[in-house]
Amino acid sequence: MPEMRFQIEPLDASFGAKITGIALADLDQAEFDALYQVWLDRALLIFPDQHLSNEAQVAFAKRFGALEFDLAPISNVRKDGSVRRDDDKDDVVKILKGNMGWHHDSTYMPVQAKGAVFTAHTVPSQGGETGWADMTAAYEALTPEMQTRIADLSAHHSLYYSQQKMGFKSKEDGSYSGYGFHDDAPPLRPLVKVHPETGRRSLLIGRHAYGIPGLNEQESETLLDELNAFACQPPRIYHHHWQVGDAVLWDNRCLMHQATPWPMHEPRVMYHARIAGDERTEFAAPA
Ligand SMILES: [Fe+2]
Repeated sequence: MPEMRFQIEPLDASFGAKITGIALADLDQAEFDALYQVWLDRALLIFPDQHLSNEAQVAFAKRFGALEFDLAPISNVRKDGSVRRDDDKDDVVKILKGNMGWHHDSTYMPVQAKGAVFTAHTVPSQGGETGWADMTAAYEALTPEMQTRIADLSAHHSLYYSQQKMGFKSKEDGSYSGYGFHDDAPPLRPLVKVHPETGRRSLLIGRHAYGIPGLNEQESETLLDELNAFACQPPRIYHHHWQVGDAVLWDNRCLMHQATPWPMHEPRVMYHARIAGDERTEFAAPA
C-alpha cells in the first residue's frame, strides 16, 4: 500500500469520505495510486477547496480512464450569462429536473459510465445539494429471499423512458444537445451488478430502469419502485451541500446519485467530467 499523505474522514453513511491535505491538480503517481484504492473502498470522495480549472479537472478525470464526453456544464445559465426560466418546456431545465431522480449515469447508453469528477463553480443560496446512494450496501441489506428473487433478473434502461415518466418530452426546444436520447434498442442490464474491480455485488436500478423481461409491466414497475425506495434510505445515502471550489469523485458502478431542487431563478454552475466505462465490463447489449 503506498504511503498516505492525505487525510481520510469517513462520511456519516455506509460509504464515502472527505479527503483533505491533497491537491488534485498536482498528484504524484504514488498519491494517485493510494487515492485510487481509497476510492474503490469508499466509492465517493469529497475534496473541499480544490478550485480546479476546467483543464485540471479534465486532466484529473483522465487519470481514471478515457472520458465519455468532454467536460459538460451542468448549469441553468446560458452562454450569454442569463439564467434559464424555470420552464418545463426548456430542454435543459427538463434534464436538470429529471436528474433529481436517483440514477446511475449512462446506463441508457451501450457502455455505462465508470465514474465522474464533479466541481462546484456557482452555488445557490439554498438547496442544490447532490445526493449519492450506496447500491452495494443496499444489495447487502436485502433479505435473502429478495436477493434470490432478483438474482437472474434484468431491466432495460432508457432516457426516453425516464424523462417521459416525469412528464417531459425529449428534445422539445432544441436547447439540450440530446445526449442520451438515441434510437438504438435500449440496453438490458442485470439488476445485480458485480463490480469489475472489487468483485462486490450491488443493485443496478434507478430512474432509467424499466421493463424487466419475464414480468408484466405492472409487476416490473412495482418491483423496481420497491427496490429504489428501499435502497435510497439512511445509512445508505449522503447529500452534499456544495461550496464553491469543492470537487467530488464518485464510482458510478456502485452508487446512484440525484440532484435536489434550488430556487431556479438563482444560477447554479457545476462541471461534470464523465469517466467512460470499460467496454469489457460496462457494455450491455441492446435487447
Ligand atoms: Fe447524473
